[in-house]
Amino acid sequence: MAAIYRRAVEVTGARDYAPAQVAVWRDHGPDLAGMWRRLGDGRRTWVAVNEDDAVVGFVDLEADGHIDLLYVDPAAGGRGVAAALLDRLEAEAAAAGLKRLYVEASETARPVLLKRSFVDLGRRDLRVADTPIHNYAMAKSL
Ligand SMILES: CC(C)(COP(=O)(O)OP(=O)(O)OC[C@H]1O[C@@H](n2cnc3c(N)ncnc32)[C@H](O)[C@@H]1OP(=O)(O)O)[C@@H](O)C(=O)NCCC(=O)NCCS
Repeated sequence: MAAIYRRAVEVTGARDYAPAQVAVWRDHGPDLAGMWRRLGDGRRTWVAVNEDDAVVGFVDLEADGHIDLLYVDPAAGGRGVAAALLDRLEAEAAAAGLKRLYVEASETARPVLLKRSFVDLGRRDLRVADTPIHNYAMAKSL
């Protein structure tokens, strides 16, 4: 999953972000140890697997409705993997009684989430290691 994160940022994220931005996004995200820590902190995680049972994408959900990570291997991109992961996440979040999902969405994820009735609450301009980079606060009522 750490490798998928890296590839998704380097290949798919690079469609929407400059090389310096891709580098800080990749380098300030979870590496292998960070992925263990984050995904082992009690949040729920769903993975999508291909016909060989290899993981091709994943999404997580924190207890308050926050989606922290949504990453799909570029080799499996554009084929509805994220849509399938979000279908499952939304169904289980609603069943668990959550009323709202929220996420800081990349430029790349924004159209995917708009299509699913997430609302864009505004662009967030950040600086990571002195590099300007942005994302969008987005939310969806369940
Ligand atoms: C964002 C990401 C997870 C999407 O994964 P994906 O599996 O390729 O997305 P899907 O194929 O499920 O696309 C879902 C829907 O969004 C649409 N979509 C995807 N990209 C789009 C774009 N740039 N513009 C408009 N619509 C788009 C698809 O057509 C699809 O619609 P459909 O279900 O009606 O066909 C993937 O591109 C990724 O890993 N990006 C890099 C990392 C990233 O940005 N993560 C999010 C951090 S918040």
